[in-house]
Amino acid sequence: MHVLVAGGAGYIGSVLTPMLLKEGHSVTVLDRFYFGPTLSVAEREYGTKLRLVKGYIRSFSPSVLSGVEAVIDVSGISNDPACDLEADLTKSVNIDGGKRLAVLAREAGVRRYVYSSSCSVYGHGEGLGLVETSNRHPVSLYARAKVEVEDFVKKLAIDSRGEFESCAVRLATVFGLSPRMRFDLAINVMTKNAYVGRRIMVDGGGRQWRPFVHVQDVARAFIAAITAPSEKVTGEVFNVGSDGSNVQILNLAFRVRDAIPGTEVVHALTDPDLRDYNVNFEKIRRVLGYETTVTIDDGIREVLAALHDGRLDPDERRWYTLRQYLFLREAERALSELAVDGRLLSSPLS
Ligand SMILES: NC(=O)c1ccc[n+]([C@@H]2O[C@H](COP(=O)([O-])OP(=O)(O)OC[C@H]3O[C@@H](n4cnc5c(N)ncnc54)[C@H](O)[C@@H]3O)[C@@H](O)[C@H]2O)c1
Repeated sequence: MHVLVAGGAGYIGSVLTPMLLKEGHSVTVLDRFYFGPTLSVAEREYGTKLRLVKGYIRSFSPSVLSGVEAVIDVSGISNDPACDLEADLTKSVNIDGGKRLAVLAREAGVRRYVYSSSCSVYGHGEGLGLVETSNRHPVSLYARAKVEVEDFVKKLAIDSRGEFESCAVRLATVFGLSPRMRFDLAINVMTKNAYVGRRIMVDGGGRQWRPFVHVQDVARAFIAAITAPSEKVTGEVFNVGSDGSNVQILNLAFRVRDAIPGTEVVHALTDPDLRDYNVNFEKIRRVLGYETTVTIDDGIREVLAALHDGRLDPDERRWYTLRQYLFLREAERALSELAVDGRLLSSPLS
C-alpha cells in the first residue's frame, strides 16, 4: 500500500515510517521537519520506497496525495505548553491543518484515513475505566483541538456513506525510544531526570491517573487501523493502550525510582493537575485483536540503557518540544530583524 504519513518525522512518525517500510508499504512523509533529519537511516535503507516532502499541512499541494491509498495523520503541535505559545497558530495547524488534510485526502480518492487523537480528550475524567463513548472534558487547547478534529473526521466517514474509511485513535501517553526523542513525556522525562540528577519532580499532586503506551505499540496500532477490514474501523474511535498501563503519577515516579538506585521523589509546589483519566482499552482488543507488547518497566529500562550507553543526549534541545519551538520562534524573529541577504553572521566573502 502507498501510505502518506503526515508528521512522519516526529516522535511517533519516525518509528512508524520505518515499520511501514519494513512491512513492504511505500511511504510518503509530509512534515515540516522541525526536529531535524530523523528519517536519514530509513532513507538510506529504503531508497525510493520512501519519499520525503518538506511542507506545511496547511498549504501543501494536493498533488502530494496522488496515488496515496491510506493517510495517517501524526502531525501538529504536540503538547499543551507548545500549543499555548500561540493559540492562533495552534488552531491553524492542529485544527484547520488537520481538517484540510482529511478533506484533501477524501477528494484525492484516498480510502483509509487514521487520525491521531489523544486520551487527553477525557481531560478531567468521570470515574475510572473510561470508554470511547464516555464524556470528554478536555482541559487544554491541545485536547480541545483533538476533540474537534476527531469529530470532523468521523463526520466525513458518515457523510461519504463509508466511501471514506476514516477513524481516530486516542493514544495513551507514549514512552520509549525514537529517532526524534521526546523528553517531555512522563516516563521518558522521569527516567532522564532520575538518571541525570537522581531526582524526580512530581507535578500536580501525583494522584492523577494516566494510561501509557510504548511508541512501537503505537506504530503497530496505526498499522492495524490501516489494514483492518473497512467495517471494523470506518467512523470508529479506538483508545490505544492497555488496561494495566493506567498508573497514578506518584506511583509512576516510584517505579522509575526503583529502577535507578539513589533517586529521590519530590513533590513540586504546583496546582493540582486537572488532567486525570483512567482508560479502558477493551474495544481495540475485541475489534482489532490488538494487544500491547512492551511494558512500562521495559520502557524505563530501554531509555535508561540508551542514556547510559551515550546513544541519547539528554541535553539535546530538539528532544524538548517546547524548547525547540521557542528556539524556532526566536530564530525566525532574529532572521526577520537582522538578516542581510538571508544571512545573520557570515557574509558572502567570509
Ligand atoms: N506522544 C504522545 O504521547 C501522544 C499522545 C497522544 C496523541 N499524540 C499525537 O500524535 C501526534 C504525533 O505526536 P508526536 O509525539 O510524534 O509529536 P512530534 O512533535 O514529535 O511530531 C509532530 C510532527 O509534526 C510536524 N509538524 C508540526 N507542525 C507541522 C505543520 N504545520 N506541517 C507539517 N508538519 C508539522 C513536526 O515537524 C513533527 O515532526 C500528534 O498529533 C500528537 O498530538 C501524541
